Amino acid sequence: MSDSNNPLESLDNWEDDLLRRYPQPESQMTATMQAASQTADFRNYDAEARPCVKEFYRLNHQYQTLEFNRQKRAEYLTLDRRSMGIWEAMQFLNELVDDSDPDIDLPQIEHLLQTAEAIRADGRPRWFILAGLVHDLGKILCLWGEPQWAVVGDTFPVGCRYSERIVFYDAFEANPDKQVAEYQTECGIYQPHCGLDNLLLSWGHDEYLYHVVKDYLPAPALAMIRYHSCYPIHREHAYQPLLKDGDAELLKWVTDFNQYDLYTKRDERMDVEGLRPFYEELIGEYFPEKLAW
Ligand SMILES: [Fe+2]
Ligand SMILES: [Fe+2]
Repeated sequence: MSDSNNPLESLDNWEDDLLRRYPQPESQMTATMQAASQTADFRNYDAEARPCVKEFYRLNHQYQTLEFNRQKRAEYLTLDRRSMGIWEAMQFLNELVDDSDPDIDLPQIEHLLQTAEAIRADGRPRWFILAGLVHDLGKILCLWGEPQWAVVGDTFPVGCRYSERIVFYDAFEANPDKQVAEYQTECGIYQPHCGLDNLLLSWGHDEYLYHVVKDYLPAPALAMIRYHSCYPIHREHAYQPLLKDGDAELLKWVTDFNQYDLYTKRDERMDVEGLRPFYEELIGEYFPEKLAW
């Protein structure tokens, strides 16, 4: 897949870089995670970001404008591309083949199952397990021709001043919105304390999937799905003047979810067909047979 518009060898390169930036504190590991981490690959947390990751962020920060955001919403949120059940969408996402080494990077379906299984092993509610199972299905945007920088990467509000806490903040110099005074005030196009759900976050897999599943899951699950890549808010606590009462509560759920997303044992293979009956039943509890994508 890698070319000048898609510099990552694999979408996982972005997630690996998150681990470099946010290594897991031992104190936050559950017993399940501690056991997993003892056999997990050694990662060099002090290393700099890989050049392909830097290039990825350069493109992301340059091209994620307010106008681009509005265009992609108009293009995708009609949800008239395809009718698919959840398991079918997982299999479809699995068609995404990156350039990276297949011995190192697992099929996408296995990351979904790893996340869900870690949540399940900790005895969390069934809707929480289900949020883990579906949370990255929005990456099918790649299969519809979207470049990597419009699918993954840390998300941030567009139409207002960029927080210096966003990774590779300097790259926003090349974003045309940086020259629009109206977009560069603290609140930009938003009302103070308008709330998370009124922000236009940079376009990617989180926002797209949220719209596909929003009628079927409880609010904390939807927050996990919609904001899980918004590291500037859920990890860096930026953009407080835009948040409203109740957002902090939702963000606690997002943080809770994030530990499973980032810190599940990535090299552990999943018995996809063996796990399928459990998950098909869980999917059936919340979702219709087909959803509009
Ligand atoms: Fe994700
Ligand atoms: Fe994920």
